[in-house]
Amino acid sequence: MSKSLNAFIIGAGRVAPGLARAITSSPGVSLVGIADSDFPRAEALAGRLGVRAAADYREFLADPSVDLAVIALPHWLHYSVAIECARAGKHVYVEKPLANSLDEADEMIAVAEAHHVRLFAAHTQRFFASTILARQMIEEGRIGAPIYATDTWYKDFGLSTRPAWFLDRAKGGGMWLMNGAHMIDRTCWMLGSEVAAVKAWIGNPIYRLPADDSAMALLQLKNGTHCTIVHAGYRRGVGRCEVEILGTEGMLKVDTYGSRVWIDENGEFVPVEVQKHDAFTYEMTKLVEALQTGAELPVPISWGRHMVEVLCACEESGRTGREVILS
Ligand SMILES: NC(=O)c1ccc[n+]([C@@H]2O[C@H](COP(=O)([O-])OP(=O)(O)OC[C@H]3O[C@@H](n4cnc5c(N)ncnc54)[C@H](O)[C@@H]3O)[C@@H](O)[C@H]2O)c1
Repeated sequence: MSKSLNAFIIGAGRVAPGLARAITSSPGVSLVGIADSDFPRAEALAGRLGVRAAADYREFLADPSVDLAVIALPHWLHYSVAIECARAGKHVYVEKPLANSLDEADEMIAVAEAHHVRLFAAHTQRFFASTILARQMIEEGRIGAPIYATDTWYKDFGLSTRPAWFLDRAKGGGMWLMNGAHMIDRTCWMLGSEVAAVKAWIGNPIYRLPADDSAMALLQLKNGTHCTIVHAGYRRGVGRCEVEILGTEGMLKVDTYGSRVWIDENGEFVPVEVQKHDAFTYEMTKLVEALQTGAELPVPISWGRHMVEVLCACEESGRTGREVILS
């Protein structure tokens, strides 16, 4: 029988309860603790779950019984903390985006390899039941050959509730890194391809912060399909989060968070039944299986790196006004 893993979470902020639920609900892994430099935060979440709390995550890194560090930190800390965890011999789960730059991502991958631990970039949107079903329907040819997708996500920026790091790109803040990472992953995964070239505009016209609030990107995929990524954190507006996919023989529509999928029928979208599940738990279960068996990770780290490459290429395109061809 495979060894059961012990995991702990670093960062007890917004995403941490979902990750804790995933760990406590997945077979083959136990949650042993929560670390947060804001100790009362760590204590509050750990107390509810009956696990250890620490202000310093290094307490868990020093514990030989701990196998997996789950990093749920502000983006600018992913790089340094992941490297520290890998050097301590722990497998590392990093919330998206893997890193703030390609150089950081490459170093993280190299250190993990050198220390014989596995590095996982969490792109949870592809584990939603709706995304999985849509990809399966495309693979089955239900809309013929896919041509392009439009991924559109409008939401309230939520200025008053955002932590300070989110309001500064130097710390990995802004809507683009936060949600562009989800959108690029889910849509390219459904279309079944990496990205070849990008042309994008990314700006901050709504809040004028040193972090973006709105973006548009046109991605040309290696398999010949295309997609647009349109995202904004508005001050006032109407929320929407949908991907529409056009094929040679039809159309699909996906609402990831709402776990809904539609297909065209007689000129209208009709719903397709989705068997819902908890995406965080499904992702964690698949990850733990891969760690126990040595199988390929459910999101290969090359894909996590590629997502950073695409995010940064879009930023470069936005700065220069030029198309960026990926290597
Ligand atoms: N998959 C998803 O659906 C999803 C949703 C939200 C956020 N995220 C990702 O989760 C990560 C965290 O985002 P968030 O919104 O939870 O952030 P957050 O700001 O709410 O929480 C971050 C936590 O890290 C703590 N922290 C900061 N520095 C620390 C340090 N040196 N040591 C220990 N703790 C420290 C903070 O006190 C805070 O509690 C990001 O990568 C984000 O993109 C993913």
